[in-house]
Amino acid sequence: MISYKEVGLVNTRDMFAKAMKGQYAIGAFNFNNMEQMQAIIAACVETKAPVILQVSKGARDYANINILRNMARGSVEYAHELGCDIPIVLHLDHGDSFQTAKDCIDNGFSSVMIDGSHLPYEENIALTKKVVDYAHEHDVTVEGELGVLAGIEDEVSSAVSHYTRPEEVVDFSTRTGVDSLAISIGTSHGAYKFTPEQCTRNAEGILIPPPLRFDILEEIEKELPGFPIVLHGASSVPQEYVKIINEHGGKLADSVGIPEEQLRKAAKSAVCKINIDSDGRLAMTATIRRIFDEKPAEFDPRKYLGPAREELKKMYMHKNVDVLGSAGHALD
Ligand code: G3H
Ligand code: 13P
Ligand code: ZN
Repeated sequence: MISYKEVGLVNTRDMFAKAMKGQYAIGAFNFNNMEQMQAIIAACVETKAPVILQVSKGARDYANINILRNMARGSVEYAHELGCDIPIVLHLDHGDSFQTAKDCIDNGFSSVMIDGSHLPYEENIALTKKVVDYAHEHDVTVEGELGVLAGIEDEVSSAVSHYTRPEEVVDFSTRTGVDSLAISIGTSHGAYKFTPEQCTRNAEGILIPPPLRFDILEEIEKELPGFPIVLHGASSVPQEYVKIINEHGGKLADSVGIPEEQLRKAAKSAVCKINIDSDGRLAMTATIRRIFDEKPAEFDPRKYLGPAREELKKMYMHKNVDVLGSAGHALD
């Protein structure tokens, strides 16, 4: 058993209490490799923002849990070396079973999500409670989910979304003991969050997605005052990255994300954690495609992964400062 405390990480409890009070949200950024991790930490140190490093089941399979834990340990030391001991959480994203969650808790994770959102309600409660009971014995915090997002959720893919039912949230959170709750109010995973038919088009032909259901969020906040809420599927799919990708041999037609001003509004509410993965993938891919196209003789990975890391850092800094409002709150 390796405790996250030995690794220098923190759980989400204090972080969320401060975010709730300060009306901002913490960035939960997915990572699978060293460049992503370095970019996230450098951006959060430079903007003095707390951060959640997020690992999906796919990332675990890709990178190996021991390597990921040691990267998280390295990120704590890296932040220190860069001059600011920002609070860092290592979080399991979309945990699919008790065993996966336990394995992460036993391997130095400070927070886990157990995603039973696709299960019948009572089964979601039973699975989530089992994880909470184990996690809390180790002072690890747990995120549960009610409602289903459209799009790809790790290996679970759903064609349609079911909004969270506000009448269920008190019963779910009391019976499971979760520390935070992921909800479905119209966000969606991946770079194709809505079909063109679900959107309108502006004068330039850019797809405008349907607005988030802030009415449902408000009802949830009334039911659970002061309870930390999580938004998944919150990438904005910046069209400048899509354009670069398409101009350099890529093919991302009709990709669309969540407008940043809606996320800014959500971050000022009970939403304390906002998950962003796809925007990082787009930033890296756009940079690498451009370099491959412009410098076909280049074959040193540092010459394209380095600039991709710089672009990622810029993107995460922008999220902390202009979208989440977490900048400047690392030492609250
Ligand atoms: O919610 C899903 C995340 O974007 C992780 O995706 O399973 O491809 O790593 P992944
Ligand atoms: P995006 O695909 O919108 O980045 O969402 C990521 C996410 O929710 C990870 O759990
Ligand atoms: Zn998610």
